[in-house]
Amino acid sequence: MQGWVHGMDKIKIYGGKPLRGTVQVSGSKNAALPILIASLLTDQDCQFESVPQLQDIRTVLRLLAHLGCRVEADLDKNTVRMNCGEITTLEAPYDLVRTMRASVVVLGPLLARFGQAKVSLPGGCAIGARPINYHLSGLERLGAEIRLENGYVIGSAQKLKGNRIVFEFPSVGATENVLMAATLAEGESLLENCAKEPEVVDLARALRSMGAEIEGEGTEVIRVQGKSSLHGTTYRVMGDRVEAGTFLAAGLATRGAVRVEGLDPEVLEAVLVKFEDAGARIHREPNAITLEAWSRLQGTDFTTLPYPGFPTDMQAQFMAAMTVAEGASLITETIFENRFMHVSELARLGADITIRGHTALVRGQEKLQGAPLMATDLRASASLIIGGLCAQGETIVNRIYHLDRGYEKVEQKLRELGADIVRIKSEEN
Ligand code: EPZ
Repeated sequence: MQGWVHGMDKIKIYGGKPLRGTVQVSGSKNAALPILIASLLTDQDCQFESVPQLQDIRTVLRLLAHLGCRVEADLDKNTVRMNCGEITTLEAPYDLVRTMRASVVVLGPLLARFGQAKVSLPGGCAIGARPINYHLSGLERLGAEIRLENGYVIGSAQKLKGNRIVFEFPSVGATENVLMAATLAEGESLLENCAKEPEVVDLARALRSMGAEIEGEGTEVIRVQGKSSLHGTTYRVMGDRVEAGTFLAAGLATRGAVRVEGLDPEVLEAVLVKFEDAGARIHREPNAITLEAWSRLQGTDFTTLPYPGFPTDMQAQFMAAMTVAEGASLITETIFENRFMHVSELARLGADITIRGHTALVRGQEKLQGAPLMATDLRASASLIIGGLCAQGETIVNRIYHLDRGYEKVEQKLRELGADIVRIKSEEN
């Protein structure tokens, strides 16, 4: 499988132009990652469509290939074919898990199908400590014995057994890990206080298409009747709600008119309501959303919460739009402890933002001015791009590899909306 990395590419933007036009959203990164991993639950062929061409997807495919899965990826066509019939190792090594935390959800499927797994502890990342204690205690409730040794989680179980699991917090990853494990456990599992995120729902649907018996996804309680085996599938991944929200936020910030196609507006409702509070007009259709923002935006307060609340993955992008709103916005982050790293970079564009603990006070400015910036994580990068699109003059965003982890063909899509944006390849730097 080919894997090109964009090294130290930069993005150069001349801002100040309203974005106008239509964008087709790609398949959801955060749905595709666990769905690809779900193919570990069967020895039959699986085919996945609408898989986005992203660095994180290449990483998970590398991990699956490392475990012995046969992977045929044609990411230009967004298709992946996989067979995990002949697994050769049950170990997910540090180098692969470290670069992408979502790798830890191999633990549940490996334990459920093979009774053993050794998975590196992911460690913290830029946005927070991100422990996996809820994943581990959920798997223990299914009968797995878990110990930590030399930075690895070592799990074993004769046969997982269905049980009642009450998550301490509706963690997306823990719900996905335990849900996958429960599909092959003996008897019934009742998962309570589950994450209700649409990506969890998409995973449950993919698992059902593989023969799993699951009810209640998208609610707090998911009931699973374990099966002795699952079968192959062909499954199409849902559209990316965060990508869609990011383009809409860019339309809002530049006072443009942007239509995104390829997702159900329902999955972005908390964000759409806030766009409306900020003064945008939103038109919801069965598979598309249109945003129009003609006048100066109004400052808008919000707090990130588990779904169906306002998503943490949209906080940075919405904040970037609020830097040019009229009046103040009070933005509170409750999901991750360190997710304001974009603030000091937005300040380089002239944004006026004060942080007190988990809350940021944004005082809207008439205008931003272009500046050189440094991306620190995926959604922070997206917010800097939005800042640059609003700012007068030239903005350079460095370390754009963060953006390539989660946005497919982002500069091409923005150019189609009329943005003046180019990628400067690292060899040209
Ligand atoms: C998923 O991460 C997403 N990643 C994140 O998207 C997203 O921000 C997050 O859900 C919240 O919506 C993927 O789906 C691959 P959590 P996840 O477990 O599963 C704490 C992006 O930009 N926690 O719901 O890791 C944790 O530290 C990424 O695309 C524990 O304490 O999120 C955090 O504070 C970033 N112990 C909170 O719960 C645990 O065992 C929510 O985490 C698990 C989590």
